[in-house]
Amino acid sequence: MIAARDLIAEARGTGVLAVNIVTVEHVLGTVAGAERAGKPVILQLSENAIAYHGRAEPIAAAARAAAEAAAVPVALHLDHITDEALALRAPELGFGSVMFDGAALPFQENLSRTRAVAEALQDAGLRVEAELGEIGGKLGAHAPGVRTDPEEARAFVAETGVDALAVAVGSQHAMTTRDARLDVDLIARLAEAVPVPLVLHGSSGVSDAGIRDAIAAGIVKVNVGTALGIAFTEAARRVLMDPTVTDPRRYLGPARDAVAGEVSRLLDAVIGNR
Ligand code: G3H
Ligand code: ZN
Repeated sequence: MIAARDLIAEARGTGVLAVNIVTVEHVLGTVAGAERAGKPVILQLSENAIAYHGRAEPIAAAARAAAEAAAVPVALHLDHITDEALALRAPELGFGSVMFDGAALPFQENLSRTRAVAEALQDAGLRVEAELGEIGGKLGAHAPGVRTDPEEARAFVAETGVDALAVAVGSQHAMTTRDARLDVDLIARLAEAVPVPLVLHGSSGVSDAGIRDAIAAGIVKVNVGTALGIAFTEAARRVLMDPTVTDPRRYLGPARDAVAGEVSRLLDAVIGNR
């Protein structure tokens, strides 16, 4: 297992895929897909996914074990963390980086809370991603159409000292169609304005070509969740059409394999292809 910061640092110009893990099947499927493609991957665990499990330790331990056994570099990242206490638990959970999500907060409060989390985690050797200009699509999110301002981004990164920045450039979370239109010029201006790698959230809503263009313009970390949920659920549903199926392995196996297939397809299609 290597730290997410290393994967992100190595991925300027080529991109690195970060996959949201919900269940152990997502963990195993994602690692299998990365091994099939022969490319690194980041396993990211969100605050929402931790809430689903009720506690962080079991799924974090599964991710850690899978990362350590993987034949390709796999990094572990905590995603969309709004609770400082949870963010600070990253080292004990074995995670190398954290996205502190203060995007819904007023600018100054986002800045000061992000800075405090970044200072504490960087002291422990971790890296911190922040978000500026809220990427819509989650419950309570700002309206679509919000964009990150390059000058604000420059000041925010300088004053918080974060290691990566999630930017609002036209994608939205939880899209089930791949027709989001990214503002590629804005990505290029943001990449010029800030010295740290940029992160694209809501990448499920972006076409392969759109993601490739975004990487060429300056996106480094590409976050995908919903697309894997779709692959997982469609595969399970196909099996569950048969009402005699009762063994969970009958539908979870194909669901895990569908995640592997989509991860490997995405890695082949968008990462390292310029
Ligand atoms: O942080 C996670 C990502 O932004 C995933 O977004 O589920 O829309 O692909 P998505
Ligand atoms: Zn996100």
